Amino acid sequence: MYKSKIRGFGHFVPENIVTNEDLSMKMNTNDEWITERTGIKERRHRKDRNNAEETTTTYARKASEIALSKAGLSAKDLDYIIFATLSPDYFFPGCGVLLQEQLGCDTIGALDIRNQCSGFIYAMSVANAFIKSGTYKNILVVGAEIHSFGLDFSDEGRGVSVIFGDGAGAVILSASNPDEAGDILSVNMHSEGKYAEELVVKFPGTKLGWSDRLLLEPNIINNQDIYPYMNGNFVFKHAVTRFPETMLEALESAGKTVEDLDMFIPHQANLRIAQFVQQKMGLPDEKIFNNIQKYGNTTAASIPIALSEALEQQKIKRGDLVLLSAFGSGFTWGSVLFEY
Ligand code: COA
Repeated sequence: MYKSKIRGFGHFVPENIVTNEDLSMKMNTNDEWITERTGIKERRHRKDRNNAEETTTTYARKASEIALSKAGLSAKDLDYIIFATLSPDYFFPGCGVLLQEQLGCDTIGALDIRNQCSGFIYAMSVANAFIKSGTYKNILVVGAEIHSFGLDFSDEGRGVSVIFGDGAGAVILSASNPDEAGDILSVNMHSEGKYAEELVVKFPGTKLGWSDRLLLEPNIINNQDIYPYMNGNFVFKHAVTRFPETMLEALESAGKTVEDLDMFIPHQANLRIAQFVQQKMGLPDEKIFNNIQKYGNTTAASIPIALSEALEQQKIKRGDLVLLSAFGSGFTWGSVLFEY
């Protein structure tokens, strides 16, 4: 069996910084409320929706190019693409094929993952299985989002729209020799679909039960269906229970303990959730990495952006034990434990 090694990493966020103060010009909110509830001070938003360089796939391409260069590989060396997003360029086809084309890869497989905040964990788990089984050698795993296109920036949507931001992160997962450092030690994935509607965007979807000619009848689409709905308190309570569960499961199945961990990178859902989990798990400040203060919640992109920044800042060294965990819409949650 092969080892799965993170060979390259990269991230990209748009230049356009939107502060809490900026949001307070659009809706009835303020820096104090947002900071106290979420820890977020600013996020990035796409500047120009008519710019072909500002799509979910182009953000992913920019992150992927950095990851490829850090790995010392070209797009032609890739065997497979796994793309996690909830904000794709098109309803279909998914972003995977668009990235294949933009990067100039051969006609390799491109898989799209729809697991929202847990998307990158699910994507890494699939990539790991392909690498370990010897099916593929170099897999591009990417999470990218443009949330700002589909949020309600009126007072009605303020409980959700202040939280989310845009960006992309990527890693190259490669097969390595048994004597090399670096391997994914355990993964786990979970879901509980009975809570699907606690954090949901309903449109466009077949469950809405409108006429067969839905898209030709614009007046029947309402705000509640096109914008995300989130039962914030409910999500919070489940997140702080599921995070520790999945973390302990990942550690136990690899025969490790919390004390063995060098770095924990949680999905950047909300700083209060991360702090609650940190305390519950007894992790010191230097063993957790958060950057939600700068980027908000970027859903499938949040873990690879944070991982890329932590690596850039040399907070993770070769041989370190690193845990990635996520919880989000679905509900879905899971973890990836690896030795870097
Ligand atoms: N600015 C100012 N006031 C706001 C606001 C905003 N952006 N959004 C909501 N409010 C108001 C509400 O209208 C409400 O006012 P009221 O008491 O007069 O009715 C009050 O603040 C409290 O709202 P509530 O929704 O109960 O706040 P909360 O304390 O639950 O915090 C979240 C809301 C979303 C920050 C919190 O529930 C949370 O973090 N949940 C986890 C969600 C998450 O992290 N999701 C990520 C996906 S995994």
